[in-house]
Amino acid sequence: GNRNNRKIRNRSNAASHISHINAVKVDQSLVSEDDEDFVLPSKEFVAQANIQSQQQYLEMYKRSIEDPSGFWSDIASEFYWKQKWGDKVYDENLDIRKGKIKIEWFKGGITNMSYNCLDRNIEAGLGDKVAIYWEGNEPGLDGSLTYSQLRDKVCQVANYLKDNGVKKGDTVIIYMPMLMELPITMLACARIGAIHSVVFAGFSAEALAQRIVDCKPKVVISCNAVKRGSKSINLKNIVDAAINDSAQNGVSVGVSLVYENPVALKREDTKWKEGQDIWWQDVIPSYSTNCPVEWVDAEDPLFILYTSGSTGKPKGVVHTTGGYMVYTATTFKYAFDYKPSDIYWCTADCGWITGHSYITYGPMLNGASVLVYEGTPNYPDAGRCWDIVDKYKVTIFYTAPTLVRSLMRDGDEYVTRYSRKSLRVLGSVGEPINPSAWRWFYDVVGDSKCPISDTWWQTESGGFMITPLPGSWPQKPGSATFPFFGVQTAIVDEKGVELEGECNGYLCVKSSWPGAFRTLYGDHERYETTYFKPFANYYFSGDGCKRDKDGYHWLTGRVDDVINVSGHRIGTAEVESALVSHPKCAEAAVVGVEHEVKGQGIYAFVTLVDGVPYSQELRKELILTVRQQIGAFAAPDKIHWAPSLPKTRSGKIIRRVLRKIASKQVDELGDTSTLADPTVINQLIELADS
Ligand code: PRX
Repeated sequence: GNRNNRKIRNRSNAASHISHINAVKVDQSLVSEDDEDFVLPSKEFVAQANIQSQQQYLEMYKRSIEDPSGFWSDIASEFYWKQKWGDKVYDENLDIRKGKIKIEWFKGGITNMSYNCLDRNIEAGLGDKVAIYWEGNEPGLDGSLTYSQLRDKVCQVANYLKDNGVKKGDTVIIYMPMLMELPITMLACARIGAIHSVVFAGFSAEALAQRIVDCKPKVVISCNAVKRGSKSINLKNIVDAAINDSAQNGVSVGVSLVYENPVALKREDTKWKEGQDIWWQDVIPSYSTNCPVEWVDAEDPLFILYTSGSTGKPKGVVHTTGGYMVYTATTFKYAFDYKPSDIYWCTADCGWITGHSYITYGPMLNGASVLVYEGTPNYPDAGRCWDIVDKYKVTIFYTAPTLVRSLMRDGDEYVTRYSRKSLRVLGSVGEPINPSAWRWFYDVVGDSKCPISDTWWQTESGGFMITPLPGSWPQKPGSATFPFFGVQTAIVDEKGVELEGECNGYLCVKSSWPGAFRTLYGDHERYETTYFKPFANYYFSGDGCKRDKDGYHWLTGRVDDVINVSGHRIGTAEVESALVSHPKCAEAAVVGVEHEVKGQGIYAFVTLVDGVPYSQELRKELILTVRQQIGAFAAPDKIHWAPSLPKTRSGKIIRRVLRKIASKQVDELGDTSTLADPTVINQLIELADS
């Protein structure tokens, strides 16, 4: 492309009156096809797209901001409501100075998530359409369920739960691998108004126990074991340890329902506790496949999902029913340009928000066929994803940059060996996607014909917040582009002053959106202080963001003490508290460092108790401690011995300095005059490779 040929002029456009995108100066029709900054959807793609132009996006966006009630209630009316919401479509207070933070959507509306995902679609004639394609870890092992079959299974589990005293408002913990039974169980809870809390099956017993103690489930539903890649993981032992641990902390779990997964572990080889443990297969099939739904208020909680923050204790993010339903369905439809003929695959796990919103709820609300994959993306080899894409003729493929980078390293042959011709839309989530990974994903995986939806969002947001709409805007590799309908982003400076035009600052949101979380479980005050106190009258995301001259958003990563490892969100404080629980560890400071595949790696500076010698052995023990307390995914990549840590005179650790040392940028330490003891730095540099 010839940069001198840029045909972008500064024109007034439909967005000019909307303050935060008034920096938009791109007119799609004026972007030349060979402009290097932009990637345009093909004419064929645009012609069939749900949103076909920048103008169409801007018109809808304008309405969503100027008339949120009208915009969202029109969409909400496409769903089934036993009773319509009250006079107010929404009610909010995001200004902590005016009192309690409150977000409500469709309050007074009576509905049910499971009904809208299943019964509504079945009544519309989709009963025989495949809802879930399941691909096992081992090639050749697979299954599927139509919408009708799925409803039958959901009802059986729902009836079992009811029979065991689970009522509306009770919590149920789900600790399961990616079997069909995982979304089935989520939908079963929703059917009876129970609140599910899915815990990713890579969390340790201690982490699971912590969540059990916090939300006190009536029932824990798990699976005895799983095979991921060539490894077999005994989940039952983890669940048992967690249940014991919880009991010691005063919370006893009545029933532990265990799915038998004989491919990974046989029944007779599973440790069993009579009176507490029940095999799924022994009870569920005998229940009726009919279960009337429990109607709930739009603002009744649907689920709790724990996520990491900047202090040690995980936060129980609470999502409610009506707004979340409308929001996940709508974002799914537009960001992936969903069509009924699509076969959709998201590589996330249902243990994370991506799996909640974009494996289970968003797609099923649209009556989509969803692929659920049990295994790892590089087993038996790095071509597995494309083998699966060809097998099921996947049309929409949604994954994380870390997987893109790791497959990129394995070489193009693993990709080009497969046809992939069914693909039409690609998606990325979890961390910023670097332009080179974006290009590879676009050129090699998508054969330069599939737009990439780089979706920026969070556990808290429930659904996409900033995302391309694939037929609408020209794309810039690495930019999440523009806010979704109804989302009023603001980039603010450290004083909370909104920045205009081209800028770099903290990413906030000015008003509520239907999918927003409503509170932190049992701790509304923490909700207010974490998210609404930093910048008055804004929701603060915790992310940094730049806006370029054309109005495109570029996420720059977390600005708090949260790191993002392979798209997994980990609080540095959580890892630190795990490390210091080791009797030989006196102090620890954890920072994120750039990592070629994982995005960020975990780098831990550790001060040992006086007199304890450094050793490789101890390093391993410390790493093991973190694995046991959080999970393998949080294991530090590096333990750096630190005789002491750089601190201010008031004793505050200077992480900025640690980050520089960790990334070997020791000549860029910046101002070190605030250090209580400047000799610390040289000691640390000397120990870097020991
Ligand atoms: O830092 C952002 C990053 O992931 C964080 C949210 O993590 P979590 O709640 O675990 O949800 C992950 C899946 C939605 C954000 O604060 N993040 C997520 N998506 C992107 C991203 N950063 C840049 N670009 C993205 N597309």
